[in-house]
Amino acid sequence: MEKPLIAPSILSADFSRLGEEVRAVESAGADWIHVDVMDGHFVPNLTIGPPVISAIRKYSTLPFDVHLMIARPERYVEDFVAAGADWLVVHVEASVHVHRVIQQIRKAGARPGVAVNPGTPISAIEPLLDDVDMVLVMSVNPGFGGQSFIPSVVRKIEVLRKWIKERGREVLIEVDGGVNEKTIPVLANYDVDVYVAGTAVFAGGDYAGNISRLRKAAAG
Ligand code: DX5
Ligand code: ZN
Repeated sequence: MEKPLIAPSILSADFSRLGEEVRAVESAGADWIHVDVMDGHFVPNLTIGPPVISAIRKYSTLPFDVHLMIARPERYVEDFVAAGADWLVVHVEASVHVHRVIQQIRKAGARPGVAVNPGTPISAIEPLLDDVDMVLVMSVNPGFGGQSFIPSVVRKIEVLRKWIKERGREVLIEVDGGVNEKTIPVLANYDVDVYVAGTAVFAGGDYAGNISRLRKAAAG
């Protein structure tokens, strides 16, 4: 797959037809399926868990990028991998021993990622850069779709890109929250690898048109 990748967040899909929605965004040209898991503790919202992921897994062959917005994710790593997560992303704020959780994810058979909230310094993930395959930089406070992009996160992405370059090891940078045609051009300067977009993909129903507009914005 050619980067940058577009990962539609199914949080903005029609939940009564989730399998068909996953199939539809795959046909519309999505690269990954981004699945937002929320527990009502780490974030003030509740969504879905492993049984729903395993139910929709058969509707697509694309990689499932599972974003865990849950407290103490170490309790559920194996369940999410068994349900079909190819990538499993945990928040640096959600675990006391996040380094250990990352090893746990790899051992369970998924690619590990770490996410960082807008209010957390990017330095919090620096000690993990030799162990993770992706860093998810949150550009809204997690919990809901349809929020506005927080411009100050761009500085974090800039620093992160520099650290990754210095290390010479491939670690993807993913940005999530308020990503659309207007915000992508700002981010493209820092070689973002994966754009997560909920509203910008699902709004209006023209998924193929929406995804191609995002790709165009990313290409500059
Ligand atoms: C927010 C989620 C996002 C969300 C993005 O907590 O992690 O993935 O669905 O939605 P938009 O693209 O609408 O900001
Ligand atoms: Zn997300």
